[in-house]
Amino acid sequence: MKNLKYYLNKALKEKFALGAFNFSNMESLQAISKACSQTQSPAFISVSEGALNYMGENYVIALAKCAKEISPYLFLHLDHGKNFDICKKAIDLGFDSVMIDGSSLPFEQNINLTKQVCEYAHNKNVLVEGELGQIKGIEDNVSSTQNFYTDPEKAKIFVKETNVDLLAIAIGTSHGAYKYNGEQTLRFDILKEIEKQLPNFPLVLHGASTIDSELINMINDYGGNIKNAKGVSKEHLIQAIKEHNIIKINTDSDIRLAFTSMTRKVLNDKKEEFDPRKYLGEGRNKAEDIIKDKIKNIFFSENKL
Ligand code: G3H
Ligand code: 13P
Ligand code: ZN
Repeated sequence: MKNLKYYLNKALKEKFALGAFNFSNMESLQAISKACSQTQSPAFISVSEGALNYMGENYVIALAKCAKEISPYLFLHLDHGKNFDICKKAIDLGFDSVMIDGSSLPFEQNINLTKQVCEYAHNKNVLVEGELGQIKGIEDNVSSTQNFYTDPEKAKIFVKETNVDLLAIAIGTSHGAYKYNGEQTLRFDILKEIEKQLPNFPLVLHGASTIDSELINMINDYGGNIKNAKGVSKEHLIQAIKEHNIIKINTDSDIRLAFTSMTRKVLNDKKEEFDPRKYLGEGRNKAEDIIKDKIKNIFFSENKL
């Protein structure tokens, strides 16, 4: 059985990325596992603390087991663990990898916390993602002149001191559907400097949804109200994967938008419908389609098992 480390190395060598797809219910996980199985693609299946609380840990473990039966190379990942205890809990539950997100802490504290998680996780063969720099959104009111990007020299020290397996970096993406006020930029100059300091090291891009206008328009056409949404450009994602060492791409908002757009359409088109299987089923199909599209045309992780 090939493990997660194998796929991280393969992705670095062959220049593709593993999707890290967030799920928060059975249908979204089914969409991910079917898309990955049909495209023969390895991927992370990610749960945030919020999603873990929403589903309940026993459901998460049971659902992940079912998903892995359909597509064995799905790796259960804790997204944005904020403290040691939540990471320990996920590790003890059998997660394949955890993210310890100490990015809002002072540098030394982030190092100490991340190191503590690594020591516990590595003993149990669980991989760890750390984060340096802050992935802000326009809602956080930060302008590009403020220094929240990853500092390349600190990145080198951070990796050396903590022994993390993957590093999430801040180069201009942000979470959610409202990523940019103006131009869709990514700081490739900073990415290059990080790679000089950390040659051949697996890097992670959060906040990487593309927020396609097709989905936004569909939501708005069927009674929603999402204004001024903007995501990362596909071309930038491809460049980050093909020309750099971004080998994990976090995607949550696009799955939510796909689900919501189709669910809204079905409920609008069939006003007499009240069977959740009908509208959630269509939402699931739409989510599966956009995940497959990403795997094939942006992440290039198709046929990489
Ligand atoms: O990075 C955050 C993910 O999109 C999870 O969001 O905390 O609302 O589940 P959530
Ligand atoms: P998006 O909101 O762009 O999908 O990012 C999700 C993410 O980074 C989860 O960790
Ligand atoms: Zn994130």
